[in-house]
Amino acid sequence: MAEVYIGLKWLHIVAVCIAFGSNITHVFWIIAANRDAVHRANILRLVKKIDDRLAVPTWALATVCGVAMWLWQWPVNSSWIIVSLIVTTILTVMGITFGPFMYKWIALAKDPDPENQRLKDLSRRLTVWWISITVATFFVLYLMVFKPALW
Ligand code: HEM
Repeated sequence: MAEVYIGLKWLHIVAVCIAFGSNITHVFWIIAANRDAVHRANILRLVKKIDDRLAVPTWALATVCGVAMWLWQWPVNSSWIIVSLIVTTILTVMGITFGPFMYKWIALAKDPDPENQRLKDLSRRLTVWWISITVATFFVLYLMVFKPALW
């Protein structure tokens, strides 16, 4: 049984690597999209594809494996797990709500006018999202590895 648990932990970490690995590259795509009006819509479509096909499923898989390990051998009231679950849930909601913004951005990106204010607003919003996701993931990573008793 111990091997199954370790297998679950391996899957959890692999899923997090793929999910966070995909999300952390977003800032380069945003910069590229801001600078390249001709290819902007295609760049953003690719970002959406990476999110839908890699980041979202692997964040979901990581959470499922995490909850399974929690229920398997950790006390239900482990503070570091509860806080991680809350932060991961917030991250998931942020990820889900960002989908429609991406569609709006892709539609606007077809406009070749680089001064388009709505375009700039969406780009700024994605940058703030990216910073929040990155900071929150590093925080959860800390909780996972150090497993502090928070209460
Ligand atoms: C941003 C999200 C997450 C990241 C980056 C992450 C990362 C990690 C890493 C690197 C480990 C290995 C730690 C070690 O071996 O000492 C781990 C373990 C673990 N994770 Fe996560 N995790 C995340 C989300 C979650 C969630 C949402 C849950 C549960 C609700 C969870 C539950 C667990 C448990 C129970 C372990 C302990 C495994 C053990 O040491 O036996 N994780 N996580």
